[in-house]
Amino acid sequence: MRKCGFSTIDFLPWILIGSLCFRGIQGCGPVKADIVLLIDESGSVGRRNFPKQLDFCNTLIDSLNIGADDVRIGAVTFSDDPVFHFALDAHTTSTDVKTAISNIDYKRGGTDIAKGIDYVKDTFLTSANGDRSGVADYILLVTDGTSSGAATSGQAAIASGITIWVVGIGYEVEPYQQELIDIVTPQDDFYFFASDFDDLTNIAPQVAAVLPCPYFCGEWAISYASPVTLTQFLGTNTGEMYLLNDAVYDINCCAVISGWEFYANATGDVTMLVWRNRGAAYELMGSNTITVTASDVGKVKNYTVPVGQRIGVVAGDRLGWYSSGTDIIPYDYCNTTQNENCPQSTMSTTPGGGLPVLGSMFDWNALSGTADRGYAIQAYTTNSKWLFFLEIKG
Ligand SMILES: *[C@@H]1O[C@H](CO)[C@@H](O)[C@H](O)[C@H]1NC(C)=O
Ligand SMILES: *[C@@H]1O[C@H](CO)[C@@H](O)[C@H](O)[C@H]1NC(C)=O
Ligand SMILES: *[C@@H]1O[C@H](CO)[C@@H](O)[C@H](O)[C@H]1NC(C)=O
Repeated sequence: MRKCGFSTIDFLPWILIGSLCFRGIQGCGPVKADIVLLIDESGSVGRRNFPKQLDFCNTLIDSLNIGADDVRIGAVTFSDDPVFHFALDAHTTSTDVKTAISNIDYKRGGTDIAKGIDYVKDTFLTSANGDRSGVADYILLVTDGTSSGAATSGQAAIASGITIWVVGIGYEVEPYQQELIDIVTPQDDFYFFASDFDDLTNIAPQVAAVLPCPYFCGEWAISYASPVTLTQFLGTNTGEMYLLNDAVYDINCCAVISGWEFYANATGDVTMLVWRNRGAAYELMGSNTITVTASDVGKVKNYTVPVGQRIGVVAGDRLGWYSSGTDIIPYDYCNTTQNENCPQSTMSTTPGGGLPVLGSMFDWNALSGTADRGYAIQAYTTNSKWLFFLEIKG
């Protein structure tokens, strides 16, 4: 069963956290979205590259929660004129949507992006084509060209409430990327560039990161217990990195980390970390560095992460931190007799090169955890309509 979110709380004993999560009071569930793929089939794409665009779309479908009542996908191609392929309510499973995408045939012609966007806005997005009222509309435009009027049409679509993502591909687009950015502006980070059709594979994860979360956590506090109750002991390490590797800290949903709350027993910098399980090792996905000053010591520090620095989390991610100087965050002993959620596997190590760079891999699995310690740290999540990975690598 998925862990669900609930309203932010100042303090809840672990036993409540355990049961409330699984009851899912509010803020938990699949995100609804009506997404129209608007795929370039102009002559410059070519018969060899056209399927690469389709494969790219299918990769993105894998990160969405496709369903009649969840995310719906429709498809339109365009060259001189837009061509209808399938309606938003035509396919209700991920497999069927992907098959339908793979079956889209290639026509060739010119590149009229404006016409394509206008068609989706004015003609395609109707209830007859499965567009739901009250559900956000999106266009994912994939193109290897630019065309006049595209920005005007894009801005009109945005003004009508549609969110647009644009993926520009290749050397013909490269010098004119601003024309494609103008389609999505001011949300410039909804524009992506692939240097060629093969590069679509590389940028797919970045594009996936702005798609609507499959399941979102809601407002949720991730901790073993309130930080103020875990202040008895402080480690004596310098440059130590920690990983919270117990089920009590499991992230089973998708959100952004809006705040870090911890008890501060010493001054210095503490860098909060998000790690993604990549099987053999964990990849460092994001970090927030927080400076603890003398006036913060001996209290709970509640750091609200600025919106542009929030780290997106997905199911399976792990939280941790690194102190460049001596340990800052204290702990208290606990045991599973007293509390079945008492963390039994807090990892810690002194990385040779200091704080690892974003995107680097670390084999946490090679370490063994420390038992019976609850650290004075708590993370807060909030819903994100789409995941922002502004603080990630690259
Ligand atoms: C810390 O901030 C969060 C919001 O990020 C809030 O919900 C929580 O109550 C705050 N905790 C304390 C102890 O003030
Ligand atoms: C951490 O700070 C708290 C409150 O000032 C204090 O009770 C506790 O002894 C400190 N722990 C250590 C190990 O310094
Ligand atoms: C568990 O912790 C409680 C409270 O601190 C203590 O009374 C008990 O002896 C501990 N049990 C074990 C098995 O360590």
